[in-house]
Amino acid sequence: MQKLVINGEKRLCGELKVQGAKNSALPLLAACMLVNGETRLTNCPRLSDVFAAVRILGCLGCKCSVSGDSVTVSAQQPCGCCVPEELMREMRSSIVFLGAVLGRVGECMLSFPGGCELGPRPIDMHLFALRKMGAVITEQHGELMCSCPVGLHGADITLPFPSVGATENIILAAALADGDTIIKNAAREPEITDLANFLLRCGARISGAGSDTITVRGVQSLHGCEYSVMPDRIAACTYLTAAAITGGEITLTGAEASDLDSFLKVLELSGCSVYTYSDRIFLSGTPTLRPVGMVRTMPYPGFPTDAQALATALLTQARGTSVIVETIFENRFHHVSELVRMGANIRVEGKVAIIEGVKDLYGANVMAADLRGGAALVLAGLAAQGTTTVSNIRLIDRGYEEIEKALASLGADIERK
Ligand code: UD1
Repeated sequence: MQKLVINGEKRLCGELKVQGAKNSALPLLAACMLVNGETRLTNCPRLSDVFAAVRILGCLGCKCSVSGDSVTVSAQQPCGCCVPEELMREMRSSIVFLGAVLGRVGECMLSFPGGCELGPRPIDMHLFALRKMGAVITEQHGELMCSCPVGLHGADITLPFPSVGATENIILAAALADGDTIIKNAAREPEITDLANFLLRCGARISGAGSDTITVRGVQSLHGCEYSVMPDRIAACTYLTAAAITGGEITLTGAEASDLDSFLKVLELSGCSVYTYSDRIFLSGTPTLRPVGMVRTMPYPGFPTDAQALATALLTQARGTSVIVETIFENRFHHVSELVRMGANIRVEGKVAIIEGVKDLYGANVMAADLRGGAALVLAGLAAQGTTTVSNIRLIDRGYEEIEKALASLGADIERK
């Protein structure tokens, strides 16, 4: 099993281009299934989850080719409707294929995604919405059998919580459905807007993406296009934090600063100087990080849960006490016990982490328990005295393209072994 070995206390400085967004590439690849023609996605991150999505498209009868950061999908004659169990297990978010496959083929079989490192990941909102649109769904022995005997039709759907995946699944199912679908309390994440922009380019009729009410007017068919995947917000937060935690300086190119507002505010509160431009973000760190009071993870435009572990790592180095409240997932503090092994002073009470800043972190052998928690350990390792070895890095590789090369280009002493 591969590990990342980091010799810390190097000040990170330099320029880095941010990768394409994993969390946008996956629904965009699912959306390709709806297109009667050929689609080319560029700026696609080269990640195991993206390759799993490409394999799913292959199982569904699409022809796919990958070349560098572009993926071409031809879905003229999709002939499958079954997502194999091993691919469902490999990537829980493959549930986003459900809306697209139902919309295009009229039936879909996949296994129930089950739980994951972050705790239970129910899909009740996805199923409720699709049933309201005419899908008949039965669950048996962990399998979901879905069909739409008289096709999918538009519906008025109010989500009890602005779920990102449920909003994406409804948009995908509604794009070719009969009539109008209105999603109220929709997720407002930039990845939703990216999905809507892609579908609009393919001939879909969608309005309101980015607000809490989205309307989709079903069309007869969609045509292919070329589309560039949006920059990865959380990878951007990660590399900014790498500079911040080492008191360094970074120019992040290709990043969309307006999508990072809530995270940039926390970086500024901690004493970093942040300057944003149309296509880049410049951050200059400080030798003495400040505590930031209380941060609550919230749906967009609130502070992203995916950046919670990154902020926790940063705040271990602040001169004082910060509090992080995780409101989105039940079990998202696995990184804390590992940070404590490195000398951090953090207490978790339920959904709250109380972080007392410490002067020094020390290198240790630690293990990634989830993607962003793993990235947080790498960040802590960059700041720590001595050598940190992070294991189980296949989880980190799910979200970062060659993280060690990106950090080494900024001056980190980091190696994959
Ligand atoms: C997406 C992101 C993930 C991010 C999360 C929240 C992808 C591939 N993943 O995940 O990185 O952390 O948004 O920003 O884009 N829930 C239900 N029932 C449902 C659906 C969700 O109870 O039917 C709950 C979840 O358990 C969780 C909360 O709602 O507690 C948020 O989940 P959701 O927004 O759906 O996250 P994902 O789309 O799974």
